[in-house]
Amino acid sequence: MAEKAKIAILVSGRGSNMAALVYAAKSTDCPYEIVLVASNNAEAPGLKLAEAEDIATFAHSHQGLSREEHDKIMHDAIVHSGAEYVVLAGYMRILSDGFVEKWVNRMLNIHPSLLPKYRGLDTYQRAIDAGDTVAGCSVHLVTTELDDGPVLGQTEVAILPDDDAERLASRILIAEHQLYPKILAKYVTREADPAWILNRVRERALALTETHERESFGSPGWRVGSEKTGKYFAYFTQKLHGEASVGLLVKTSGLDEQAALIDADPDLYYAPKFYGKSGWIAIRLNTGRTDWDHIADWLYKSWRLVAPKRLTKMIDIADQF
Ligand code: GAR
Repeated sequence: MAEKAKIAILVSGRGSNMAALVYAAKSTDCPYEIVLVASNNAEAPGLKLAEAEDIATFAHSHQGLSREEHDKIMHDAIVHSGAEYVVLAGYMRILSDGFVEKWVNRMLNIHPSLLPKYRGLDTYQRAIDAGDTVAGCSVHLVTTELDDGPVLGQTEVAILPDDDAERLASRILIAEHQLYPKILAKYVTREADPAWILNRVRERALALTETHERESFGSPGWRVGSEKTGKYFAYFTQKLHGEASVGLLVKTSGLDEQAALIDADPDLYYAPKFYGKSGWIAIRLNTGRTDWDHIADWLYKSWRLVAPKRLTKMIDIADQF
């Protein structure tokens, strides 16, 4: 199994979501491990629980410090722990923009509502008062807006006719404990998920001038030029022609370049079956270490090799200025 993703959890209080994550991480096939539990409150019950589970803990009160100063202390402790992701689990602090920006796409939060509904506090009572029939919880990426950011997963929880905020909260909490470990596992392994990889390739291929997508033998491919006369400059392969790997096929200048690439980095490049004979090269995309700028450069190079002259000329002229 690939190396586990390292997680720091931030808590302010009870820490039941933290406990759910800690217990989930004990399973050998869990793709993450908890390397730190940190808090702004040295008395947080969650810290004691983490200590008992032999997890490193850190606490530093925010009192008397500016938001930036306190966040910097927490950030340093997280970096020191070696964590790659920050997971907020009832961390009741608004974070400074500087802190959030340091963890873009690497910080998750759980919130007890079906976002974008009911950001902030009192989510249960607000859902009941609004006459909603369902409430729930959401796991989302953290952005500089409070309880905002792309939602990664949600669980709906029915509101019963005699529910009060406390009863509803306790049922939503059960849902939270199941949702958070599951979504975190999915998120930290996203780079091995062919659907996620395909979307990243697609974004970059379609960002090039006059391109469109068309399937070829069951694989997504991208062409430059008109729908009628366009030419393929890239294919996404997932078990294409019997290949096991998830890869991107792009054009090289020919067989010499193809051979040189494979010679220089055989872990990254391979000669694809069928297309390989005409000088295409395959780049592995499921190594977990994909350099997406490099992929964008390859797509552009390949695009140039087949793009109509009128398009490449336009770009060359623009490049002179
Ligand atoms: C959880 O219900 C969580 O969704 C909520 O605080 C509680 C923490 O409980 N978070 C927010 O409201 C964030 N805006 P826990 O400490 O037992 O995990």
